[in-house]
Amino acid sequence: MPRGKYGYDAPYALLIFGSLTIVSGLGALIAWWRMTTQAAASFTLYFVLFLANTASFFYTTRRGKFFEWERILDRMHLRGDERVLDLGCGRGAVLTAVARRLTTGRVTGVDIWSTMDQSGNARDVTLRNASLEGVSDRVHIETADMRALPFPDAAFDLVVSSLAIHNVRSNADRKRAIAEGFRVIKPGGRIVIADIRATALYADTLRTLGASEVKRQRLGWRFWWGNPVAATTLLTATKSQV
Ligand SMILES: C[S@@+](CC[C@H](N)C(=O)[O-])C[C@H]1O[C@@H](n2cnc3c(N)ncnc32)[C@H](O)[C@@H]1O
Repeated sequence: MPRGKYGYDAPYALLIFGSLTIVSGLGALIAWWRMTTQAAASFTLYFVLFLANTASFFYTTRRGKFFEWERILDRMHLRGDERVLDLGCGRGAVLTAVARRLTTGRVTGVDIWSTMDQSGNARDVTLRNASLEGVSDRVHIETADMRALPFPDAAFDLVVSSLAIHNVRSNADRKRAIAEGFRVIKPGGRIVIADIRATALYADTLRTLGASEVKRQRLGWRFWWGNPVAATTLLTATKSQV
């Protein structure tokens, strides 16, 4: 398990989910106590759903995403000499997992350090995590917006991103982020994104840009399932050789 400290994704969402669980649980208790059966059944149903959602979210942010990214990266069989970019690296959960698989390669993380999107998010925290994981020599961090990357075309063999691109507010800006990620991939390189909500939009954008082997698959129970619309999906694509 990771030695670094990776905080909580979307801490306010977690607080809201937790509060809704408590409120619906109290509602169920009061309704059962007053013997208002229909209200009690409704509150109990909401309590179970909110509890499951909160537990899934909490588990993903503390453990599940680490396990799932280990599996994703293992299946990629990296050589170790790749140049890798992590879009919205936050405190470095995926960044350090990639770095552990590199020898002569390097992984660059870009982020704008939003503490709404991840608790305690800061460049220094990510650098400290890289140090705790023993991978500082393979990690480079830049403060940059994923919609305007400060890198030349075809600079990376692999672009990864985890639960980050949906944080960009509009679909137009999400498309810009995808286009930027695709621009900096070398021909023959890959892009691998785990995210909620907008992965169909990312896939369409990548196809329009000429990506090949564009595939989406629902990730397993370890990654937050949210609701059927928001469930976490893995998107993979390749930039064709020219
Ligand atoms: C939920 S966190 C996930 C962080 C990390 N990928 C992980 O899995 O632990 C989302 C991250 O996206 C970053 N982010 C949001 N909008 C961004 C943007 N326009 N450019 C770069 N990073 C952004 C946030 O600052 C935050 O660190």
